[in-house]
Amino acid sequence: MNVGIDLIHFSTSDYFLGLDTFAQEKNIDVDKFYIGIGQEKMSIAPPDEDVVSLAAKAAAPILAQIDKSDISAILFATESGVDQSKSAGVFLHGLLGLSPRCRVVEFKHACYSGAAALQMATALVHMNPKEKVLVIAADIAKYDVDTSGEATQGCGAVAMLVTESPRILAIEPGSGYHTEDVMDFWRPNHRKTALVDGKYSTKVYLNSLKHSWAHFTEQTGRSFSDINHFCYHIPFTKMAEKAHHTLTRVAKVKLTHEQFLAQTQPGQVYNRIIGNSYSASLFVGFCSLLDNLKEDLQGRRVSFFSYGSGCVAEFFTGLMQPGYEKVLMTHSHQTQIAQRQPLSYAEYLAFYHQTDEAVENIEFSQANKGPYRLAGIQDHKRYYQAV
Ligand code: COA
Repeated sequence: MNVGIDLIHFSTSDYFLGLDTFAQEKNIDVDKFYIGIGQEKMSIAPPDEDVVSLAAKAAAPILAQIDKSDISAILFATESGVDQSKSAGVFLHGLLGLSPRCRVVEFKHACYSGAAALQMATALVHMNPKEKVLVIAADIAKYDVDTSGEATQGCGAVAMLVTESPRILAIEPGSGYHTEDVMDFWRPNHRKTALVDGKYSTKVYLNSLKHSWAHFTEQTGRSFSDINHFCYHIPFTKMAEKAHHTLTRVAKVKLTHEQFLAQTQPGQVYNRIIGNSYSASLFVGFCSLLDNLKEDLQGRRVSFFSYGSGCVAEFFTGLMQPGYEKVLMTHSHQTQIAQRQPLSYAEYLAFYHQTDEAVENIEFSQANKGPYRLAGIQDHKRYYQAV
């Protein structure tokens, strides 16, 4: 039985900060961002956008194509959760009007949790083919102003429907993984923004890739040449290139410059202009590959390397299904990106320094132009609105 991604759709916010604007404000050569880290824009969430509204915007077009009462579980991956106790997925469940006959849970391990949720969903469907699991990976990447991480912010949510006989990608059994207790990126409970040892995190990322790859090859007997397309966790697109260089070196593969670009560029188009979306970024990269590679991918093997600081990593693969192109939501992805509004640095800061949520009652003014928004917080309870 094949199990995997039947439908996939992502969302991002309605605003962006250009790294040209950012570079000018900070008096830094813009090529540090365009070339050095490979980023052009960062999606910025206004105060009335959070992971729940982003997730609802990502999931709604999927639910519109199925009987939504069939959803038997929501696995919601995030490291920018909205409550320490209640899962973001239950807010989403209410907002989307899903059946009470559904279980919901939040997954966390930095940027790895989206891959974990996808694997757990796949296992659920293998156990009971009647299951239709909604996997969400949603995050708002936020670092302190005037730190090296500030240029690598962004936000996005990916919704994936996991079923038997999937129309897009069948997840293959056998993966390689690696866990190591390190402090390269973390966000203690009292902080709104992440702390990061950026250079160290890139080293741990690449080391985890080597270990996960070694485990993957042992588990599956597959080699580099068995894989047609490579998707990586993309905190910034240069990281995916460093990863692919590392993988080719470890696998002792020589690629021409053109081959290298062909294997890496299509999967980076969206990430370059959305920025980091933590747990979602690997799957935004997959959408980017599907929407931007103008080739028939049917029967091709795609690899996924997920890395979550701290750290947990996994390397796994899937097979593209016949007719997948008929169910892609390319137009929606591209329209959302094209319709974003640019922010000045001052406007970005106004969004950045959001209302203090510890204050008891807040009614947010409307900046989020999407179909769902965070309307307010009353007595410490969040209220969402379908617009
Ligand atoms: N033109 C072209 N390239 C330039 C440049 C210019 N004018 N100025 C700098 N660069 C290059 C540097 O050589 C460097 O390349 P390299 O990585 O190949 O060595 C790159 O741009 C970044 O410059 P650097 O000085 O290292 O930037 P930084 O101190 O601001 O740190 C990060 C960059 C990515 C570490 C930082 O943004 C960060 O901490 N990000 C968050 C952490 C993260 O995403 N971790 C990833 C693992 S999940």
